[in-house]
Amino acid sequence: MNDEYKSDIDSIRKNLKINNRLILSLDVPDKLKAFEVLKKADNKISTIKIGLELIYNEGFEIINLVKKTGYKVLLDAKLMDIPNTISGAIKGISKMDVEMITIHTFGGASMLKNANNILKEICIQKNKKRPLLFGVTVLTSLDDNDLKDFGFNIKFSDIVLRMTKIALNNGIDGIICSPNEVKMLRENFGNNFLIATPGIRLAEDKVEDQKRINTPEKAIADGADFIIVGRSIINSPNVSDTIDLYLKKIKKELLNDKSC
Ligand code: C5P
Repeated sequence: MNDEYKSDIDSIRKNLKINNRLILSLDVPDKLKAFEVLKKADNKISTIKIGLELIYNEGFEIINLVKKTGYKVLLDAKLMDIPNTISGAIKGISKMDVEMITIHTFGGASMLKNANNILKEICIQKNKKRPLLFGVTVLTSLDDNDLKDFGFNIKFSDIVLRMTKIALNNGIDGIICSPNEVKMLRENFGNNFLIATPGIRLAEDKVEDQKRINTPEKAIADGADFIIVGRSIINSPNVSDTIDLYLKKIKKELLNDKSC
């Protein structure tokens, strides 16, 4: 992690307000539905995650449209391919105005390092703020049984640990993991990297396709910087009230943390 262009994680964290910490995952089939949700969200939060569903249905133009409504964008690109191909993709993404990008740690050390280096180079050349690269460890929809089926004879938590180590050694700014793994990652790797956790559910929510879930309180208490929430908010009877509820829970948890 010895890297002169490494993001200053401490100052990023210090500047995080409560409403920066809840990222809404805009998993909807089209533009119409997207703007309906955004209108209800009413800019109560700062960042929207745009992922495969919206991109493949509406194209990359949706990013600019969302940005025009005043939000920052986490592009959940989930990049994974050979290093050369990903470097090319990163060149394309660097033309977009996004704050965060996701990449699969399973693409391996060289892919992660190349992506990070090329992103840095381009941003220095263009004198533009470098988007943060977040490494996806093991999808929160998988558990030990799935990994056994793949032929892995170690627990997913060991894989999350290994993938995090590889990601951090190759300049990745943040890790995407389940809320159940945050504590383990903080204990093993400290605080000089960001953590964002999907797999967040309120007690009354349906689990649906996720397997490694937990509450917003658990994620924040254990040291997550961001929680990523989709269906729990989008499918709730009142999007605006549910966002307020999440923000209240995050605030309460942070106030309990004597270190902040
Ligand atoms: O609706 P829900 O809150 O379960 O959505 C979670 C979001 O986070 C989805 O957009 C999914 O693609 C994303 N995600 C995830 N698990 C990961 C990485 C990203 O669920 N490991």
